[in-house]
Amino acid sequence: MNLEITHAQFGVRPPVSKPIPEFLIEVTEGGIREMISKHYDSIRVSEIAHIFPKDEKEFEQAKVNSADFFIQICGGPAYFNKNRGAPQMIGRHAPFRIDAKARETWLELYKPLLEELKESGVTERSLMSFWGYLNIFSIWMVNTQS
Ligand code: HEM
Repeated sequence: MNLEITHAQFGVRPPVSKPIPEFLIEVTEGGIREMISKHYDSIRVSEIAHIFPKDEKEFEQAKVNSADFFIQICGGPAYFNKNRGAPQMIGRHAPFRIDAKARETWLELYKPLLEELKESGVTERSLMSFWGYLNIFSIWMVNTQS
């Protein structure tokens, strides 16, 4: 799979497309929760660990909040809006120092998880559409110049 990372100029927000509905159908809600949990677990032992919660309970809650969001953006129930309110992702990320390098690390940690899903039978078309969303929307979260 060609999981390319797009490099963008600081402050530029390219248009984002949501993942196609087949992604949620194929991966299922449980599969998305599992993928997010694994992503957070790899964040915990990465160079961006310091910007995430250190407390075990908070860290587990962060997985839930994040999975709620991703299920919602993939066309599932509005768990995030119900539990956390309006997404306002840029604002929610504002307290954290996210530079281009942090974004790249965050994205890199998704790659083995998407490869794993491919091996378990999820179509490349669905995976590429999810990757497209991550790749582009993560540019929007960069709030600090390298
Ligand atoms: C596609 C791009 C991204 C999406 C959709 C996303 C989504 C989310 C969501 C839903 C939350 C929970 C917010 C809340 O409940 O208040 C969150 C929190 C957070 N995100 Fe992101 N994020 C993205 C990119 C990034 C990147 C690139 C970084 C840093 C490298 C990052 C770092 C954080 C941190 C530090 C938190 C707070 C701790 C936590 O609740 O997990 N995010 N993100």
